[in-house]
Amino acid sequence: MKLAMFSSQPYDRRFFEEARVARSDAVEIHYHETTLNAETAVLAQGCAAVCVFVNDVLDAATLEVLDGLGVKALLLRCAGFNNVDLATAARYGMFAARVPAYSPEAVAEHALAMIQTLNRHTHRAWARVREGNFALEGLLGMTLHGKTVGIVGTGKIGLATARILKGFGCRVLGHDPYPSPAFAPLGTQVPLAQLLAESDIVSLHCPLTDETRHMINAATLAAMKPGAMLVNTSRGGLIDTVAVIAALKSRQLGALAIDVYEQESALFFHDHSGDIIDDDLFGRLVTFPNVLITGHQGFFTIEALREIASITFDNLDCFRRGGVCANLLPAL
Ligand code: NAI
Repeated sequence: MKLAMFSSQPYDRRFFEEARVARSDAVEIHYHETTLNAETAVLAQGCAAVCVFVNDVLDAATLEVLDGLGVKALLLRCAGFNNVDLATAARYGMFAARVPAYSPEAVAEHALAMIQTLNRHTHRAWARVREGNFALEGLLGMTLHGKTVGIVGTGKIGLATARILKGFGCRVLGHDPYPSPAFAPLGTQVPLAQLLAESDIVSLHCPLTDETRHMINAATLAAMKPGAMLVNTSRGGLIDTVAVIAALKSRQLGALAIDVYEQESALFFHDHSGDIIDDDLFGRLVTFPNVLITGHQGFFTIEALREIASITFDNLDCFRRGGVCANLLPAL
């Protein structure tokens, strides 16, 4: 059997080949660097399955091409599935499975790394010390102990983030329409308006859906505690970037840490250091001293990559052998 992997990077090949050899799996993986869309889908010719990542576009047009080529399985090597037209996939009778939890702690720990980098300015201190500048002016932070942190979406990653923040001695608030009982010992579930009004740091951990798109907008930014920090390690579309830039300019928003960006598919996961970046909103964001951006690396740990490869092979086994697959995506 042949499988076409899209958006593949050298580290994907490393961990997938490691898993394939360990399992003595005869699947032939064709690694493609390009993202999957209606134009590139033809690369899956002769393959029964495609393996995709966060910025691959599995809309109706792409799925139509894949169906025409005889592709019958969509293997997502990520948790979020906002990029897949599940109704169309179901209509074509395609098997679609994801990796729901490869390492919630990896993303939660990255959220914390971002919070503390931005709060204690370690990125600026690193550059200063290398130049022999040991002045502290401009590096003033706040003690996290005793601060209120709001977690929007208290699922697997939200819970992992709450556990770490509880360890820091923070007061943790949560907002989730389907709260997990596991959150109760960590904090208090409150309405979103209360969470925004009381939190010194707001961290987003809910999925991107029609309902959550631009949940951070001019109105919700105005409802936040003045000077608070906003953290997004979930999906870029949760934030209205134009509104966030306005809130940074007016000082209503005190700091912004994002590992995801609404228009990231044109930028992230590739080296554009020699290019002119044709995205004025992104260009404006990087000019703020109180904005920290990383290129969707929350998941990027050895443990998580191993788990992603391993669970994707489990999902592939389910497709080949039939039977129950715990990671099947719901047919919407
Ligand atoms: P999860 O499914 O365990 O938790 C998501 C939670 O959000 C659920 O409890 C759900 O009830 C809640 N939710 C749904 N709608 C909501 C709303 N309107 N307001 C508040 N909460 C809402 O998902 P998990 O594993 O915690 O992942 C969360 C997100 O993190 C994923 O959807 C994905 O987009 C993102 N992610 C980012 C990664 C990165 O590398 N930066 C890696 C993995 C996931």
